[in-house]
Amino acid sequence: MRMVEIIEKKRDGKPLSTEEIQFFVNGYTEGRIPDYQASALLMAILWQGMDDRETSDLTLAMAHSGEMLSLRDVAPFVVDKHSTGGVGDKVSLVVAPTVAACGLPVGKMSGRGLGFSGGTLDKLESIPGYRTNLTVAEFKAQLQQIGIVLTGQSANLAPADGKLYALRDVTGTVPSLPLIVSSIMSKKIAAGADAIVLDVKMGSGAFMKTLEEARALAEGMVRIGDAVGRKVAAQISDMNQPLGHAIGNALEVKEAIETLHGGGPDDFREHCLVIAGEMLTLSGHAERVSEGKKQARQAIASGAAWEKFRQLIAAQGGDVRYVDEPERLPQARFITPVEATQGGYLARVQTDEIGMTVVGLGGGRLQKGQAIDPAVGLVMPIKVGDPVQPGEVLFTVHANDEGLRDEAIQRVLAALTFSESPVKPLPLFYD
Ligand code: URA
Repeated sequence: MRMVEIIEKKRDGKPLSTEEIQFFVNGYTEGRIPDYQASALLMAILWQGMDDRETSDLTLAMAHSGEMLSLRDVAPFVVDKHSTGGVGDKVSLVVAPTVAACGLPVGKMSGRGLGFSGGTLDKLESIPGYRTNLTVAEFKAQLQQIGIVLTGQSANLAPADGKLYALRDVTGTVPSLPLIVSSIMSKKIAAGADAIVLDVKMGSGAFMKTLEEARALAEGMVRIGDAVGRKVAAQISDMNQPLGHAIGNALEVKEAIETLHGGGPDDFREHCLVIAGEMLTLSGHAERVSEGKKQARQAIASGAAWEKFRQLIAAQGGDVRYVDEPERLPQARFITPVEATQGGYLARVQTDEIGMTVVGLGGGRLQKGQAIDPAVGLVMPIKVGDPVQPGEVLFTVHANDEGLRDEAIQRVLAALTFSESPVKPLPLFYD
């Protein structure tokens, strides 16, 4: 088989066979297929798409590119969650310890920043020492001991996704339904969770811009999960504005810590409760989501969720002094509030631009493997529908370079639209 012929076939809109997909996934994972050929195929897939059979073949080939975890010997039932990617989406940092504190083991393989969307691993790495590359043996031992793991793909867990994900991030090949389905579901299938809750984001800060696209993505993932015997549920949630207030790695960890202490922004707290409630319900720990939400609320109020978070950080090598005293986390040198010059209502947020502004500040990657600056980002307390008075702070830029800070201010101002008449707030969930 020749890789160039596989690229040409997809370029011309033809379906790839199961063998061709396996040839690509194995060859790329093992380093026999170079980045330039893999990038060309990814771009052809983005333009030409894949049918259900190809998407399923790609997902399973990626899942089988490393070890397939069976967690039966360490936990009777394990739940996982995954977001399709958004801006200010720090939900896993709160939901995973909250659900684990309710007695349901959470074994989660997360991702890094992708395009304009942030990644849980990059956020966690702003805590000095935190390891995101656990081996399979470590994953299982930790799940058994403390009932929670938050790690990344390693050399032996879905390595194909680890490599393809990093390549997609810097080649403009993220917003493709088959590539997102296969990326998410390969990790979930390999990591062995019995139940998976998918947080499918829709809107200007998501890869799926319309409800129709988000539904197709959700259905694609649920179908594959069902086919391999996992319980899967999807929530379609709003991403037409950042979730919570903080966008940027250390800033988001701080906001997650506030939320685990019972505070945090209202939209973010409620979003976390719904996803936690769904995880508890899908796993049979609650009869309905409202009851699951209640359990999650209690786990936060009693301090059990916070204790679980500390245990997680310590177990993965993180220095807990940084979460006990979050002011120790990386801080930017230039912290600049930007005020409204006139009154009005926030009407629209070009949310992917907000995410790219944080990438531009150094909080994400423009090239593969680039180091990121954990301290930089934005804090934006206003929400669509909020009235704004002249002189009120619209957002605060956290930067380590004055030139980049000035660019960021202009970019964010251009991404916000105000109206003179009242505007309806956005819902948190659609479906
Ligand atoms: N999250 C993933 O893990 N992969 C994607 O492609 C998008 C979001």
